[in-house]
Amino acid sequence: MIQKERTLSIIKPDAVSKGIIGAIISRFESSGLLIVSAKMLQLTTDQVLEFYNEHKNKFFFKDLMEFMISGPIFVQILEGNYAIRRNREIMGNTDPMKALAGTIRFDYGESCTKNVIHGSDSESSAKYEIAYFFDI
Ligand code: TYD
Ligand code: MG
Repeated sequence: MIQKERTLSIIKPDAVSKGIIGAIISRFESSGLLIVSAKMLQLTTDQVLEFYNEHKNKFFFKDLMEFMISGPIFVQILEGNYAIRRNREIMGNTDPMKALAGTIRFDYGESCTKNVIHGSDSESSAKYEIAYFFDI
């Protein structure tokens, strides 16, 4: 059975400052993922700590923190069939050097940190992350 899902997507500060929000959103829409809610905001250190809590003891956390608070982000809920997995496919590998050609991170990513975009990685994280940013 086809499974309609919702997932959380964040266009990160590198992409917002490069002016490629529209280009990224076009990729979701042309892949059949609908944007059902969206907003722009700038994260605080406390919010990054809470949102990325699973990574707080990793070697890269300081870089991740500095990057994620460095400018505004564009947060959205995407909806569609198998949205969680399909969004991850459209995004590409965390490391843009390992991402498949044609993915967002391959085309626009600079490094494992400046990698353009976030997407929920499971049903449970999608639920948590959507509730973190939206009242729906
Ligand atoms: P992770 O959940 O492993 O990747 P993904 O975003 O693909 O789900 O890591 C979360 C974020 O942490 C990642 O998007 C960017 C940052 N990060 C680094 O800065 N350096 C790294 O080596 C890794 C693995 C992640
Ligand atoms: Mg992740």
